[in-house]
Amino acid sequence: MTALSRLLNGCPLLPIIQTETPQQAVDIAAALAQGGVSAVEVVLRTPKALDAISAIRSALPSVLVGAGTVLNAAQAQDCKDAGAQFLVSPASTPALLQAMIDTGLPLAPGVSTVSEMAMAHEMGLNELKFFPANLSGGTPMLNAVRSILQQVRFCPTGGISAANLTEYLSLPNVFVVGGSWLTPADLVKAGDYTAITALTAESVRLANVCLA
Ligand code: 3PG
Repeated sequence: MTALSRLLNGCPLLPIIQTETPQQAVDIAAALAQGGVSAVEVVLRTPKALDAISAIRSALPSVLVGAGTVLNAAQAQDCKDAGAQFLVSPASTPALLQAMIDTGLPLAPGVSTVSEMAMAHEMGLNELKFFPANLSGGTPMLNAVRSILQQVRFCPTGGISAANLTEYLSLPNVFVVGGSWLTPADLVKAGDYTAITALTAESVRLANVCLA
């Protein structure tokens, strides 16, 4: 299994797309890509999410598209069938982790406690989504687990914004930050893709300065 960080190839931001239609998803993904990100996560929270993944795959071949909010084995397989290139879950159970592993796709399962981190690590998973990051202890928590789980790296998600993304990205055990701050519901609803591109460009700039 390829590691998610390898697939992302240095892209520091993983924006979430929550969409009502496949065309809207393509437009959002194009706006994000225009702003400088190369990967997006379509969350399975709307009826058309799987179609949206397939649509982005065919319309924007240079954009990596993954599935988020994967909660069970059937969804993991459905996402793979729809063309998802990686999987993200908000939580971890042994059955969900095994199902995600069985797809062979790069993945970042969600964890928030040291025991969940240890369970995922025990199953050979060393790249995890730390969710909800701000509510689960934020950067002090990630710092606290660094010396304990030395091989584990994180994608913090939940409460990330332009105001705190560099605080997370500057940690050695963070390989990307994710979330919805680049695709706020009001801009998506208004179809203001220019504003989404501008928000993205600013966060990409902040990330690049931090990682330089
Ligand atoms: C997720 O699915 O990862 C979270 O909903 C993202 O949280 P955020 O909306 O605070 O970025």
